[in-house]
Amino acid sequence: MHQGSVGRSSVPVLLGLTLSFLLLFITPVLGSTIWPHHNINNTDLVFGASKKFEGSSDFVHLRYHMGPVLTSNITVHLIWYGAWQKSQKKIIRGFLNSISAVDSKHPSVSSWWKTVQLYTDQTGANISRHVNVGDEKNDRFYSHGKSLTRLSIQSVIKSAVTTRTHPLPINPKSGLYLLLTSDDVHVENFCGQVCGFHYFTFPSIVGYTLPYAWVGNSAKQCPGFCAYPFAVPNYIPGLKPVKSPNNDAGVDGMISVIAHELAELATNPLVNAWYAGQDPSFPTEIADLCEGIYGTGGGGSYTGQLMEDHDGATYNMNGMRRRFLVQWVWNPVVNYCSGPNALDQ
Ligand SMILES: *[C@@H]1O[C@H](CO)[C@@H](O)[C@H](O)[C@H]1NC(C)=O
Ligand SMILES: *[C@@H]1O[C@H](CO)[C@@H](O)[C@H](O)[C@H]1NC(C)=O
Ligand SMILES: *[C@@H]1O[C@H](CO)[C@@H](O)[C@H](O)[C@H]1NC(C)=O
Repeated sequence: MHQGSVGRSSVPVLLGLTLSFLLLFITPVLGSTIWPHHNINNTDLVFGASKKFEGSSDFVHLRYHMGPVLTSNITVHLIWYGAWQKSQKKIIRGFLNSISAVDSKHPSVSSWWKTVQLYTDQTGANISRHVNVGDEKNDRFYSHGKSLTRLSIQSVIKSAVTTRTHPLPINPKSGLYLLLTSDDVHVENFCGQVCGFHYFTFPSIVGYTLPYAWVGNSAKQCPGFCAYPFAVPNYIPGLKPVKSPNNDAGVDGMISVIAHELAELATNPLVNAWYAGQDPSFPTEIADLCEGIYGTGGGGSYTGQLMEDHDGATYNMNGMRRRFLVQWVWNPVVNYCSGPNALDQ
């Protein structure tokens, strides 16, 4: 199974560039800062051998803050905002449906989710192993324009759950609302600071408290930032993009961001459950801790050991009939980032 493993390194980079690159790479939950890791020793994080960060974590104090987590069957409601091709929707649905699939080849998306299932609530109940795609809504004509703010994103969700024809169901307990914006939609802080974020809706805007996430297709705006390593930033000379597993760099890049947000929504849906750091306004959550780590040895600007398929596309896990590249998440049992393609498993 280790056959075909390749290392992906972006080594010929000055330290300063590496630093700014990493800074750009962090996708905080609230997104208003590029430094969600401010309660961690950043010097360690950035300079101190990422292997150390992958392998141990004396300075990470992930804690449970007593809030709810998603222990019942999770239903993901999709809101397709703007222009989406059928083929693009299939890739994203294919990933979501792979989370609970039982028969994917090792290393699989479903075994990636097993790390998320290790988190529990006050009663000891684990995160659900079932993630289903629920009802979907198309917002083809950009109901709130081509430039969204954090607040107008909530208005888009409100429209989707209150529209007269086929509104999305209101499911505050085990529903997640995933707003996906097409490559021509600008979103506040997109590209400059974040590739996606999650939060919950305000009753004053939407009428309900619903956990939601937004992820944008970066293909036309900042693929080198949000769809790395399928695209690379042009300010890093000599760095080459790798081939994406589903032939759509923008959407293949979204998969890992979607995975990141789902893992955090499941373990911290109301931002009062699992996170590290003292300040709940800037929580460092289970996927933030492993940003940019996709395989053994990953960290810094190195993705870690990945795999290559017969077409030369790079991936690290199998779904149903498709392959994906998905970042790892923090494992609370062993206290480091882990994923199904780890070489020591
Ligand atoms: C962070 O860690 C480095 C290396 O271990 C150490 O030199 C530095 O003083 C630490 N910084 C803070 C703010 O604790
Ligand atoms: C949860 O989902 C599984 C698989 O789809 C299903 O078999 C089970 O009945 C569901 N449980 C509840 C409580 O809906
Ligand atoms: C539930 O969480 C506990 C604590 O992390 C873990 O030991 C157990 O294996 C988990 N169960 C499942 C089904 O993931």
